[in-house]
Amino acid sequence: MKFNLKAVLLLTCLPVAVHAGALDERFASYQEKGVDSFDPENGQAIWQQQVRHAKSGKARSCSDCHGDDLSEPGKHVKTGKSIQPMARSVNPQRLTDGKKIEKWFKRNCKWTWGRRCTAQEKSDLLSFLQQL
Ligand code: HEC
Repeated sequence: MKFNLKAVLLLTCLPVAVHAGALDERFASYQEKGVDSFDPENGQAIWQQQVRHAKSGKARSCSDCHGDDLSEPGKHVKTGKSIQPMARSVNPQRLTDGKKIEKWFKRNCKWTWGRRCTAQEKSDLLSFLQQL
C-alpha cells in the first residue's frame, strides 16, 4: 500500500505545529530529496529481506541484531549486547531523535546491505517502524 506523503503531511499539520517530532522532520527531509510516498509494507519487506554479504557470503538482515519480534529486545550479532526493543509501543524512546536515526541508518545499512540506504528506503522503513 502506498501513501501520498504530501497528503499525510497535510493531515498531520496540526499536531506538527504543536510538536514537530523527529519523524515528521525526517519525512520532510526525504521529501526534499524527491521522495513523495512511503510504503510501510515495503518497509517491512526490506527490513526482513536477506542480503548476501559480499565478503563473507553470508546472508544478513536487519533482524540479525533487532530480532524477529520487534517488541522484544534484540541481541547484537557481533558483540552479543542486548538492544532495546524497536517497537515504540513498548519503547517510547524509539525514533525520537533525528540525528540518532540517521547515524544508525548509515551504520546499519552499510553493515547489513553493504551500502547506504536511499531516502526512499528510509521513508519506507520508518513508516513501517513508526506503526509498531
Ligand atoms: C550488527 C547489528 C545491527 C544490525 C544488523 C542492524 N542494526 Fe539497527 N541498531 C543496532 C544498534 C546497536 C543500534 C543502537 C542501539 C539502540 O538504538 O538500541 C541500532 C539502532 C537502529 C536505529 C535507531 C533507532 C532509534 O530509536 O533512533 C534504526 C533506525 C536502525 N537501527 C535501523 C536498522 C535497519 C534499517 C537495519 C537493517 C538495514 C538495522 N538497523 C540492522 C544494531 C544493528
